[in-house]
Amino acid sequence: MKLFNQGGAVGSTLSYAGLIEKIEILRSTLRWASRLERADIEKLLKQATTLRDEVMQLSHKERFVQAAVAEPAEPEPAADLGPRERRQALLERSFIFEGTFGDNPKLLEALEIAEKAAPTHLPVLIDGESGTGKELMAKVIHANGSRTDKPFISVNCGAIPENLIESELFGHKKGAFTGAASDRRGKFESAHTGTIFLDEIGELPLTGQVKLLRVLEAHEIQRVGSDETISVDTRIVAATNRDLRRLSEEGKFREDLFYRLSVIHVTLPPLRERRDEIALLVAFFGDEAAGSLKRRPVKLTPRLRDFLMNYAYPGNIRELRNLMYRVSCLAGDTADLEHLPQDIRPRAAGPALVAGGVAAAGGVDATTATSLSEAKRAASDEAERAFLERGLHEVGGTVAELARRFDMNRSHLQMLLKKHGIHSKDFRHQAAQGGKAG
Ligand SMILES: Nc1ncnc2c1ncn2[C@@H]1O[C@H](COP(=O)(O)OP(=O)(O)OP(=O)(O)O)[C@@H](O)[C@H]1O
Ligand SMILES: [Mg+2]
Repeated sequence: MKLFNQGGAVGSTLSYAGLIEKIEILRSTLRWASRLERADIEKLLKQATTLRDEVMQLSHKERFVQAAVAEPAEPEPAADLGPRERRQALLERSFIFEGTFGDNPKLLEALEIAEKAAPTHLPVLIDGESGTGKELMAKVIHANGSRTDKPFISVNCGAIPENLIESELFGHKKGAFTGAASDRRGKFESAHTGTIFLDEIGELPLTGQVKLLRVLEAHEIQRVGSDETISVDTRIVAATNRDLRRLSEEGKFREDLFYRLSVIHVTLPPLRERRDEIALLVAFFGDEAAGSLKRRPVKLTPRLRDFLMNYAYPGNIRELRNLMYRVSCLAGDTADLEHLPQDIRPRAAGPALVAGGVAAAGGVDATTATSLSEAKRAASDEAERAFLERGLHEVGGTVAELARRFDMNRSHLQMLLKKHGIHSKDFRHQAAQGGKAG
């Protein structure tokens, strides 16, 4: 009597042919049932059970394969839809945009991720250049979740002195350090049951990072100077304009914290990658500024409009918004290039400027040079100066940051700035003004 090997096929490859063979063996065995010993019968029953499991498995697998054939690839409705439809679909699902504008595919993707992440407790890491709407996105996540009626607490980790940041986040006990006159609760406790937005998370010192890791792991905090642990239920949304992965590779940011924070990772596109939306944003912020300044919306000369449409916007949407507020404030009925801040104003704009550019250090420019080599040097000086100014503008006037970004020696950079008479603090001033208005 031929009894098949038990369990042979389970877990390995199942096939119809193999199963049919087993069924045939079973059938033929059953024909001898009258002569079977008790042990044989038990074996047979076991085989029948195995067979039943295998048939179920195969059927399940088969259904999977069929489903995969019927729906080629992963169904990705979003990818097939146009931007308008994707936005419309979000609207129809009652998504709260909090005023987030734009139909750029990357932005929509970020919103769609936000929609899915919002109702969960998972941490979200938002990255993107300055002014791309990271804080706005954090609010979108909060507004679309179940904590929307609970506190949204925003902390700028880059703006608090290093020695105070832990006390700011986790609170402190009276006497924990000089100046700690009484017990104080931190932002995490204030954000209990709500959301905490940790802005510029890349600036959090390593000791703070360790404590943050603890919150993510155990949902508890300790006030500075206290042994007592306090449970907190706080949803964490963090933002950075730095490359956290790189920082963690360089040992400046804890890798484990990076992975914990970035379970959901959203990247916001810079404005220069969504240029087709500039016109809409110009109109929108023009109206918004008019409303806030109680004036009629400012008209734009064609050359100003042209400038606004083609400008690089290192400060992204915030910069565009600030520009519209600025020109709306400074211009009468119609704004022109002269209403732009001087550092971004095109050369030809000011009445005192000669066509072709301001003379570089030394008083020579490409149009007044008396030899080719002089013209080349003047052009190169000019390019160098523009490069430095743009860089400083982008990093808000921090020379060290500029040096890091361009991988340049800091003292060499200082020397170049001196050569061109550029003062980094002028750019810091602009950045601070930008922050106030934005
Ligand atoms: N998609 C958008 N639609 C409309 N307004 C936007 C959009 N993105 C940003 N803004 C506006 O631009 C300004 C800057 O946004 P936000 O403060 O969120 O940027 P950020 O990325 O946090 O900037 P930073 O890195 O400088 O802190 C805000 O006034 C915000 O309302
Ligand atoms: Mg911000």
